[in-house]
This record gives sequence, C-alpha cells and structure tokens, in this order.
Amino acid sequence: MAITTCIFDAYGTLFDVSSAARQAAGEPGREALAACWQKLSADWRTKQLHYTWHRALVGEYIPFWGVTQDGLDWALAANGLADDPELRARLLQLYWELSAYPEVPAMLAALKLAGLNTAILSNGSPEMLDGAVKSAGLSAVLDDVLSVESVGIFKPAPQVYDLVKARFKCAPDQVLFVSSNCWDALAAAGYGFRVAWVNRMGEVMDILGHAPDETLSDLSSIPNLAKRF
Ligand code: LAC
Repeated sequence: MAITTCIFDAYGTLFDVSSAARQAAGEPGREALAACWQKLSADWRTKQLHYTWHRALVGEYIPFWGVTQDGLDWALAANGLADDPELRARLLQLYWELSAYPEVPAMLAALKLAGLNTAILSNGSPEMLDGAVKSAGLSAVLDDVLSVESVGIFKPAPQVYDLVKARFKCAPDQVLFVSSNCWDALAAAGYGFRVAWVNRMGEVMDILGHAPDETLSDLSSIPNLAKRF
C-alpha cells in the first residue's frame, strides 16, 4: 500500500544528541569538558538507552527525563566530572534545545506539501519533545508528537509502535518509519512498518532478525522514498 504517514524517531534522528556536549565544551571555562566531550556524550547516550531497556524489562518505568539525568550522572562520574553541578545543569538545559540536523526542516516541509502525515514517535517525555520541536522551529511541519509516556514503557515494546495506528488509523505498511537507532529501525521493521535506517556514521547493522527497507546517510531523500513505496 502507498505510504500515508511518515513517523520519525526524535533523538539521534531529527535531533543531534551530541550537540549539547559539543556546545557546552565550547563555552568559556570548560577546559575539562573540552578534553573529553565526545566520550562523555557517547557515554551519556549509551547509558540513557541501556537504562530505558532495563526499565522496560523490569517494569520500572520512569519518564525519559529521569533516565536522561541518570545517564548523564553516570557519564559525568565515568569521566571525572561528577563534582561540577553547574556543568550538569548546563548540559541538561541544552538537552531541551538540541539542534535539528540541517536537512530536517525542508524534508518535513516537502512531506507536508505532498499531503503526508508527519509525526515524531519517541521515548522522550512530552515536555522535552515540545522544547526540542519548538527550539528547532518544527511545530508547523509536524502533525503530532507521540510520546511513550502514554503507554508507560520504552521502545522497542510493540505497545509504543501501536500508538501510530491509534493516532493515524493506518495499516503498518502505510507507515514509513525513520530512525537512526538501528535497534529501533529493526524493531519497527519486525512490527510491519516500512523502514528507513539513517546510518550517518557508517555503523555496522545490528543482527536482530530484521532488516530496514532502505539505509540512508541522511534524511534528505525521505520525501522521494515515501513516494516510491
Ligand atoms: C527516541 C530515542 C530512542 O527518540 O532516540 O525515542
């Protein structure tokens, strides 16, 4: 069936999660962070995701904002920066205003012009997502922002992908799901969505029993891809 609905993961897909640590590292007086910001940023992201999977498995959901803070606390400790509460507060503040990748606004505008539904489906708490969408100026090109908060479990639980059908009344094969998180993309493929994996860093594909329909190096070809299916 033709694609009617394009659904995007948020963190790492539309929004550059490394932009918080990168920006803070460039600010005056942050020499210690400047020396390790890439590792700190990667540790933060890795722990944030591990904690979502752990909490989903043990059934101890807390909002993504809590998991984001816990992941940062681990990363600060692991990089010898746990004694800098001002840095912690600055990094958390920047997470609410992450940069969108440069091609995102035009790509979403092209999808809207083609008459497709557009939405985010994210682990993010509604308030965090609202902050990121507004600061990137994307409100007018997104029909909705769907958060796992309403089902109380993180991706890749199928209840999360069910939110798309409930909101847009579409069959899974009418959905083009786009994620840079390979595990998210593959879970969505297993769920029955058409899937594009955005592999900006040339990573090796995860081995989880499914494959994306397309692997892309950025988001600019999504409008053409949505037409092609
Ligand atoms: C999200 C995480 C997985 O936005 O990046 O759901």
